[in-house]
Amino acid sequence: MSGAAETAIQTDFVFVPRAAEIAREAGARLREYFIAGVETEYKGDVDLVTVADRTVEKLIRSRLGEVFPEHGIYGEEGTRERMDGEYRWYVDPLDGTTNFAHGFPQFCVSMGLEQRPRGTRPDGDGTLVAGVIYDPMRDELFAAERGRGAQLNGKPARVSHVPELAESLLATGFPSRKRHTSPNMHFYHEFTLRSHGVRRAGSAALDLAYVACGRMEAFWEFNLNPWDTAAGILLVEEAGGRVTDFAGAHYRLASDEILASNGLIHEELIGLFADLFAGRNLSPIPTAEEFARARKSRG
Ligand code: IPD
Ligand code: CA
Ligand code: CA
Repeated sequence: MSGAAETAIQTDFVFVPRAAEIAREAGARLREYFIAGVETEYKGDVDLVTVADRTVEKLIRSRLGEVFPEHGIYGEEGTRERMDGEYRWYVDPLDGTTNFAHGFPQFCVSMGLEQRPRGTRPDGDGTLVAGVIYDPMRDELFAAERGRGAQLNGKPARVSHVPELAESLLATGFPSRKRHTSPNMHFYHEFTLRSHGVRRAGSAALDLAYVACGRMEAFWEFNLNPWDTAAGILLVEEAGGRVTDFAGAHYRLASDEILASNGLIHEELIGLFADLFAGRNLSPIPTAEEFARARKSRG
């Protein structure tokens, strides 16, 4: 393996070094499939799936089983192993399948580890303790462990210092299923007009990783799954950011809403969500001239 992601990972990480090796191997396999091109199938009525999703989940399942034989695995493509264990990996072997299937190079492997002390109810949350996200097209490895910080290719990752929405770059996504009933288009519209812009790049895990390393100020989405978010949540928190639902409540892995930010613009976003949900009269969207005047007055 060569390239930037080979850079040594800080030694006091406990789970990340071996998980990162697995994510890199899985990512290398995705890259080969991407370059060769794959047939696309439908999983259900609208969700796409490819041979890469299934083969790479099998690969990760087998490698995790060798390296962490006691750990459970909960994968998007159906893996459910050792679900009563103290540790559980949430695995998305290919986050960004629609991009992948169209030859759009924005996708990743995401693996998040939850610790579930004995007695945790099946529908209860444990604590996220480690996360690895690997983008094989850019050779970027994002990693974090609880209390030990977040890194991008072995160097500390921090959220941005941008203090307000008007100066922020945001990201969101739209579900492939039930998209005709998703209210997100309204939020997309409002946030686009109140910020530097909203990117919709098609990989929730990378969106979260980008918030963690300060490339964007915030990310929100409806109806994600734990395999999309587990690793990214820990990355954002360990990089100094904040993750809640849209009302500011503690984020749960089964939550229907995720709002992740650099922390500094979080309250402003929660206030805007509350107004939008309530259909309240929002303050008028600034014109370009008003926007420039406000920017100058902030210095
Ligand atoms: C999808 C991506 C996308 C998000 C969708 C997810 P998948 O995951 O993360 O960005 O908007 O909601 O389902 O299906 O490519 O693993
Ligand atoms: Ca996903
Ligand atoms: Ca996936």
